Amino acid sequence: MTFKSTTAAIPEVRAMPRHIAIIMDGNGRWARKRMLPRVAGHKRGVESVRGAVRACIERGVEHLTLFAFSSENWRRPMAEVDTLMELFVIALEREVGKLHQNGVRLRIVGDLERFGPRLNQLIADGEALTRGNSRLTLNIAANYGGRWDILQAVNRLLAERGAGAPVTEADLADRLCLAGTPEPDLFIRTGGEQRISNFLLWQLAYTELYFTDTLWPDFDTAALDAAIDSYRRRERRFGRTSEQVTEAMQAAVAAAKRVQP
Ligand code: IPE
Ligand code: IPE
Ligand code: MG
Repeated sequence: MTFKSTTAAIPEVRAMPRHIAIIMDGNGRWARKRMLPRVAGHKRGVESVRGAVRACIERGVEHLTLFAFSSENWRRPMAEVDTLMELFVIALEREVGKLHQNGVRLRIVGDLERFGPRLNQLIADGEALTRGNSRLTLNIAANYGGRWDILQAVNRLLAERGAGAPVTEADLADRLCLAGTPEPDLFIRTGGEQRISNFLLWQLAYTELYFTDTLWPDFDTAALDAAIDSYRRRERRFGRTSEQVTEAMQAAVAAAKRVQP
């Protein structure tokens, strides 16, 4: 692992979150409010994705993870699922080149087996093209479920070494979809619901949670900045007391002064 998990070590807290994870919810309600079909909301939602990616690049966020389709979204009417798959194909066809130009590394995380060959090919091509980029890593969670992720990691472990030795936290974390990525600092859910809906169950252990009523198609740069502002006002204690956090901060400032008088 290139970094330690929040439960193994207290991470450095920066003013700007390194990793933001978003449940992009409310597309259907956005469309309904305008007497439009749900798909119109999903289409507008793609624009918000573009805006969020741009804003994260500008702000120096290193990782952005977006929940696009959950393992439970297959329960929706078939017509909506089909439309979402088509939109995914179109978005990949249109956006991958631009992402690459902007130095974005694209990763699709989730159980890709259920997607058709066309989508899988686009995913493989997009990931291969952008592999060397490091300005921002954009993780799109598609057919993703937090429980599925933990289970596939456990099953990989069992396949690799059987059930003998005790499993460590790092053993498991290294086999999750986002292995090697620092845990999200900030989680945002748009659309008013206050739940996790089977998103990153393991990784959200010490993430700051932010819920907003803003529907995803209305989520613009100002809305993102409001979430980041809220994040900045929080005290991330990771189990410690408030006094310990202050002392640690003072010690870090003093150490920095010694290095650069
Ligand atoms: C989020 O918007 C997009 C997906 C889950 C694919 P919704 O489609 O869930 O929108 P609401 O929650 O019905 O408004
Ligand atoms: C969560 O939204 C999944 C995505 C945004 C992809 P849902 O709309 O599926 O969540 P629930 O059903 O309201 O919990
Ligand atoms: Mg929803």
